Amino acid sequence: MRDYLKTCERAARAGGEQLVQWRGRFQVHSKGPSDWVTEADFASQDAIRKIVEADFPDHDFLGEEDTEIRQTGSRFVWHVDPLDGTTNYVHGAPPYCVSVALAEEGEVIAAAVYDPVLDECFTAERGQGARLNGEPIAVSNATNLENSLVTASFPPLVDPKSEEIQAFLRILQSAGSMRRTGSAALNLCYVAAGRFDAFWAVTIKSWDVAAGVLLVREAGGIVTAPSGSSFVLDQPKFACAASEKLHRELISGLALS
Ligand code: IPD
Ligand code: CA
Ligand code: CA
Repeated sequence: MRDYLKTCERAARAGGEQLVQWRGRFQVHSKGPSDWVTEADFASQDAIRKIVEADFPDHDFLGEEDTEIRQTGSRFVWHVDPLDGTTNYVHGAPPYCVSVALAEEGEVIAAAVYDPVLDECFTAERGQGARLNGEPIAVSNATNLENSLVTASFPPLVDPKSEEIQAFLRILQSAGSMRRTGSAALNLCYVAAGRFDAFWAVTIKSWDVAAGVLLVREAGGIVTAPSGSSFVLDQPKFACAASEKLHRELISGLALS
C-alpha cells in the first residue's frame, strides 16, 4: 500500500492544530436547528484538503464543510470530518476530533482520528490492525449487553417518536449503561480501544464514521448495518460491537429494519 496512512495521520493532526488555534476566538454560525459550524471547522478542512490534494491530486474528496466536492469518479474517495463534535467544541467541552479516511471502491483502507484535547491519534490500515498513538489496540471482551457500556448517536432534534428513539429506549433497558459523547467518530475509536463495548447510529454521514468503522474492524470488532446486513459506506447507518455475541444481542434489541 502507498503511504495512505501517513497522509491520513498528517492531515488529521494538521486539522487538529487548527482546532486548537481557533479555540475561544471563533464565531458560531447556524447550519440548521441545533446544528452549528465555526471558523475552526473550515480552517481544519482547508488544512486537511491541502495535504490530501498535494499528496493525491487525482483522488476525490468529500468533506463535511466542502462547498466544492471533488467528484471525478476516481475509485479513491477521501471522507473527511474536519471537526466531529462541533457542539462540544463550541461549549469548550471535550470530546471532539478530526476524522480522515480513504476509501477505495467504497471500502475504507486507511484512517486516522485525532483528538487534540487528549493528544490521541487513532489509526488503522486495512489488514494491519488498529493503533492508538502507535500502540496496538483491541476491542473489549464484552459478550453481553447486560454488562456493557453502550453508546449511540442521534441527529440534531431527533423526533422522539422515531424508530431510532424507540430502539434507543429498548437498549436503555437492557444495556449495563449508556453514554452520549457528541462525537460519533470518537465513539467508534472508543469501541476500537475497548473503552466502550458497542455503538450504533441510524442517521449519520459517511464523514462521521468512515475512519471509525475501519478502526473497529481492525481492532477485532463487528460492524454491520443496524438490521444485521452488510455495512455500506454510502448509506452509513450501522451497529457495532466488541464480539459476535454482543453484536447479535445488540441487533436483536435494536430490532431495526
Ligand atoms: C455530529 C456528531 C454527533 C452525532 C451527529 C453528528 P458534527 O457531528 O458526530 O455525535 O450525533 O449526528 O452530526 O456535527 O459535530 O460534525
Ligand atoms: Ca460529524
Ligand atoms: Ca463536523
